Amino acid sequence: MSGVTGGSLRATATRIIHQVVHSGQSLGQILPPALEGLPADERGRLQDWCFGSCRWWHRLNAELQQRLHKPLPKRHAQLESLLILGLYQLRHTRIAPHAAIHQSVETARELGAHQLTGLVNGILRKSLRDGESEPVTDAIRYSHPEWLVAKLSANWPEHWQAMLEANNRRAPMSLRYHTGHHDQASALAALADAGLSAQPGQLAPHALQLDEACPVERIPGFAEGHFSVQDEAAQLCTQLLELAPGQRVLDACAAPGGKTGAILEHEPDLTEVVALDSDRDRLGRITENLERIGAGARLVAADAGDPDAWWDGTAFDRILLDAPCSGTGVIRRHPDIKLLRRETDIRELADTQLRLLEACWQTLAIGGRLVYATCSVLQQENARIIQRFINGHMDAQLVPITLDWGIETGYGRQLITGEREQDGFFYACLEKNPAHWV
Ligand SMILES: C[S@@+](CC[C@H](N)C(=O)[O-])C[C@H]1O[C@@H](n2cnc3c(N)ncnc32)[C@H](O)[C@@H]1O
Repeated sequence: MSGVTGGSLRATATRIIHQVVHSGQSLGQILPPALEGLPADERGRLQDWCFGSCRWWHRLNAELQQRLHKPLPKRHAQLESLLILGLYQLRHTRIAPHAAIHQSVETARELGAHQLTGLVNGILRKSLRDGESEPVTDAIRYSHPEWLVAKLSANWPEHWQAMLEANNRRAPMSLRYHTGHHDQASALAALADAGLSAQPGQLAPHALQLDEACPVERIPGFAEGHFSVQDEAAQLCTQLLELAPGQRVLDACAAPGGKTGAILEHEPDLTEVVALDSDRDRLGRITENLERIGAGARLVAADAGDPDAWWDGTAFDRILLDAPCSGTGVIRRHPDIKLLRRETDIRELADTQLRLLEACWQTLAIGGRLVYATCSVLQQENARIIQRFINGHMDAQLVPITLDWGIETGYGRQLITGEREQDGFFYACLEKNPAHWV
């Protein structure tokens, strides 16, 4: 990615954080190219600095703004991110404070802010000496944007604090073992042989949780598809779809293909799986993921909301609509969501979600089942969508999810982030009645 690398690791981290905060770029876009070619220890540090600074940005920035007596000069605006990174290290890492401060000062010099090295030194030294002051708002305490704290506390009066706390923890690395290669005991044994300690999952039948995250290259048989990396909440889609041999299945928002792979592993005798996504570039990721597990699907690049453009008129028995969403259930894996998402996005996302649901519904066979899923924890994108949809569709029947996870909303089940170590996720199952029933 042009413009972020070059110079010290700390200067690179500063530029990356600055781009997330001020140019709306995601860590997923700008971090991987910056990591390329770095030795393992530097990769780990750069990742931690960028993720940690985004995770704690709202809280650290409140502290920083208190200490800055006037705004930073525009041409040295990047120093804000350098200082946030320094504060992150003082508050949340074991790096020796004097080293964090010294390197921050040197990086200010490297970034051309020679006259401001004293300011950087002074702010970090004072922060170290005085410690953190008591946060004055929940948004600062939990380091989230105010609009999100307001929505979560209104949506989940009993759970919002636990959710915000979970969002600030690191997510475990969860795996799905391929039942064509392993059962639970052999999967655990294979991991143990490779020096990886893991536990059975708490929700999904083929889930395992590693005690410590590791590069996928260390997972035995990963390249041959014996294991896939997937959060447990995401794995639950296969059970809800009630897959059976001979069915035609549509995965309507499929890229990068995590759930397409789970579907194909779960029921290898499906007649056809259509994996559709509007992002042509991301379709390549589906191919890679499916090839690795030795499966295949018909890939289609199209807007799921416009069936005239892609549907041949043969109805699907099963549809998974894993709709584009705010990602508010996966903040612990993508802490930059707190900085990138705007309150106004939610209404737009909800309109898209309903539009996609309406369109996919047309392609579902009578008696068929559609599973609506998001990795959001906002009712506006979840239960409200299903409620609005059901109210307008007499042929749609909501099928209660009687499994023992999550919270029943009346219009689907909500998994609360971190409740059983899994991501925040929402599922609703809808079945299509014959027209004469209605
Ligand atoms: C939550 S992600 C899907 C994740 C995927 N199901 C998995 O498990 O790996 C949502 C996907 O929806 C796609 N998308 C967004 N708008 C779409 C549309 N109108 N039609 C089809 N796909 C769309 C995005 O490109 C993105 O890949």
